[in-house]
Amino acid sequence: MAYDAMTLADVVMERAEILGAISEEPQLLVRRFATPTLRQAMDTVAGWMSDAGMNVRRDNIGNLIGRYEGVLGATKTLLLGSHLDTVRDAGKYDGPLGVLVAVACVERLQQAGRRLPYAIEVAAFADEEGLRYHTAYLGSNVVAGRFDPAYLTLVDDDGITLIEALRSYGGDPSALAADARDSADLLGYCEVHIEQGPVLEALDLPVGIVSGIAGQSRFTVTWRGMAGHAGTVPMRLRRDALCAAAEFITLVEQVAREHAGLVATVGQIAVQPGASNVIPGQVTLSLDVRHLDDGLREQTIGQLHAQALSIGERRQIDVTWGVVQEHGSLLCARELVALLGRAVQAQGYPIHELPSGAGHDAVVMAELGPVAMLFVRCKDGVSHHPAESVAVADVAVAIDVLQEFLELLGRADGR
Ligand code: GLV
Ligand code: MN
Ligand code: MN
Repeated sequence: MAYDAMTLADVVMERAEILGAISEEPQLLVRRFATPTLRQAMDTVAGWMSDAGMNVRRDNIGNLIGRYEGVLGATKTLLLGSHLDTVRDAGKYDGPLGVLVAVACVERLQQAGRRLPYAIEVAAFADEEGLRYHTAYLGSNVVAGRFDPAYLTLVDDDGITLIEALRSYGGDPSALAADARDSADLLGYCEVHIEQGPVLEALDLPVGIVSGIAGQSRFTVTWRGMAGHAGTVPMRLRRDALCAAAEFITLVEQVAREHAGLVATVGQIAVQPGASNVIPGQVTLSLDVRHLDDGLREQTIGQLHAQALSIGERRQIDVTWGVVQEHGSLLCARELVALLGRAVQAQGYPIHELPSGAGHDAVVMAELGPVAMLFVRCKDGVSHHPAESVAVADVAVAIDVLQEFLELLGRADGR
């Protein structure tokens, strides 16, 4: 039979390769929000969605949404999907896998000439990683009606504002609010994603069910000291912004290590003026803090903020603490988790629930209704790295599990 899960999984893997070659840079994979490269990836997926019998549309932030109608008279809709933007030097599966597995399931329904008691929409979100504007979930925020118009003034590293980027991508910034999805007909949102960690591999399980998603805060911390001549200013008279920032970065690591499950990362740093013979006058760094317990995350942030100010005071460095984005932790909807559990068992595998330390569009989609996620084992737990890898057999299991979930949902709910 042409549309068994293994054949579909082969197609998913081929398509992941095709998308993996659509990059802004030839030597590494990077697809930023609102770029011609992202458009190319979206157009490619739009073709696959159409082939699977879906009506395809694009909204004004650049999300692609394919719709496969349910039986005549069906009034409800289930949303599936993930994102097509990437980090820099990304792997091929973080995001695309969830879109491709969802399209594969619709393709199988279409081939069987089947309609479910509800419609399926597959969303390919335009920005989950936040690489270009440092703020995650731009795509799903629009769908959830949570897009903050203040984002339009954000500026990327090339000085292009978000509003300019949107216009040149073909979106109408004034229509973003109107792109919010009505939640009245929604049964929920289900996202398939690679695990991005080593747990499933250690347990020898192809898939796992996400119990919840860690809360996440992102900040920009700016350190302003005094630039000067590297040869003439004595050490005791310096106000070196980079030395202050370095002290803080080490502290971030130390504090995060004190609490189980707490992770804190400084992933970006810009030094000005940035010359080997000039004392650094200004440093801007990113800070990302995550934990499943919102209270502990907030307490840690308070502690880090206070310590940044105290480092600055001692070193005569002016510190500015800017909030980029904050999201509380999320518990997945138990009714959908239970259906996913039955779907996993129906494929002969035990249920394993695990939390997600990574952020996902599901966090934002929870504003609209119940959400659930299925994780697929990845090799060595590696992600946000070109070595990211999944096994085709595990993708086949994910397709079968999602298909079974769709059937169970059809029986449990529907019109
Ligand atoms: C997205 O991958 C994130 O968790 O930052
Ligand atoms: Mn990611
Ligand atoms: Mn992702």
